[in-house]
Amino acid sequence: MAPFLHLFLLLSAVATPITATSAYPSIPGTDAEDCKISSGDGSPVPIRREVYGGGRIFDITHRYTTDLPSWPSDDGMGQFLWLPASMKNGSLANNSEMKMATHSGTHLDAPGHMIDRYFDAGFDVDTLDLEVLNGPALLVDVPRDSNITAKVMESLKIPKGVRRVLFRTLNTDRRLMYKKAFDSSYVAFTTDGAKWLVENTDIKLVGVDYLSVACDDDLVPAHLEFFEGREIIPVEALKLDDVPAGLYTVHCLPLRLLGAEGSPVRCILIK
Ligand SMILES: *[C@@H]1O[C@H](CO)[C@@H](O)[C@H](O)[C@H]1NC(C)=O
Ligand SMILES: *[C@@H]1O[C@H](CO)[C@@H](O)[C@H](O)[C@H]1NC(C)=O
Ligand SMILES: *[C@@H]1O[C@H](CO)[C@@H](O)[C@H](O)[C@H]1NC(C)=O
Repeated sequence: MAPFLHLFLLLSAVATPITATSAYPSIPGTDAEDCKISSGDGSPVPIRREVYGGGRIFDITHRYTTDLPSWPSDDGMGQFLWLPASMKNGSLANNSEMKMATHSGTHLDAPGHMIDRYFDAGFDVDTLDLEVLNGPALLVDVPRDSNITAKVMESLKIPKGVRRVLFRTLNTDRRLMYKKAFDSSYVAFTTDGAKWLVENTDIKLVGVDYLSVACDDDLVPAHLEFFEGREIIPVEALKLDDVPAGLYTVHCLPLRLLGAEGSPVRCILIK
């Protein structure tokens, strides 16, 4: 198995102490009619959504759960969140901690992921260009009978000038990100597909719908095609279900993890 360089991420999230009844006063952006009131004691219940603003904003980030697939495990991510300080145990606030591989769930890669001299030179996720990660983006459907080869890339006829493309593939149809066991038969770029993109397009943000931008057979060489120029940013494991293909504005924001070659990323599409 390829040597994925997993740094571990340890973060602490501080919850504001609030009364029980106002624990979830409102979910920003929630329309009044979406606010279901629980029948029991009448207190508000949290609503989780994928689409906001009446279809204007799509959340294309996978929710972190213990069952999210994890490279190359059969058992999924497992526990990644702990509550070492809790109000139930007398603490002033609930204060959780998390620990996960930086390439977990919806995430992006920095050039140091597979090119050691770039890692040593400090090309970490904090050096990635936010201009590339935010702007007009095309969501395209890849023919379902193939990996993303040079031939497939050519057939997609993505115009010059398009700088951000999210490739929806068979992975989305197979709901691979909702299956706990890692599946190496996922679809992604072959080496010649990656090379074709680099040489023939202006694409700098390459979005895919499973954990790796490179297919399993071409794992290292296809990654290298993208990393070598230090301009292309692979964004992986995007949640592209139920989003119409077309033109959007994408926003992807990685954490500023100094020294890390990968980071979880929150990505949204705005119509
Ligand atoms: C509270 O503390 C007990 C004893 O240390 C521990 O077993 C339990 O998991 C804690 N509960 C929470 C919610 O932190
Ligand atoms: C604090 O954590 C406890 C679990 O120990 C949970 O039941 C409670 O709802 C949390 N409080 C808030 C305000 O989130
Ligand atoms: C894509 O490539 C992988 C090997 O990397 C293979 O298992 C899979 O069947 C291929 N998928 C398609 C649709 O050709």
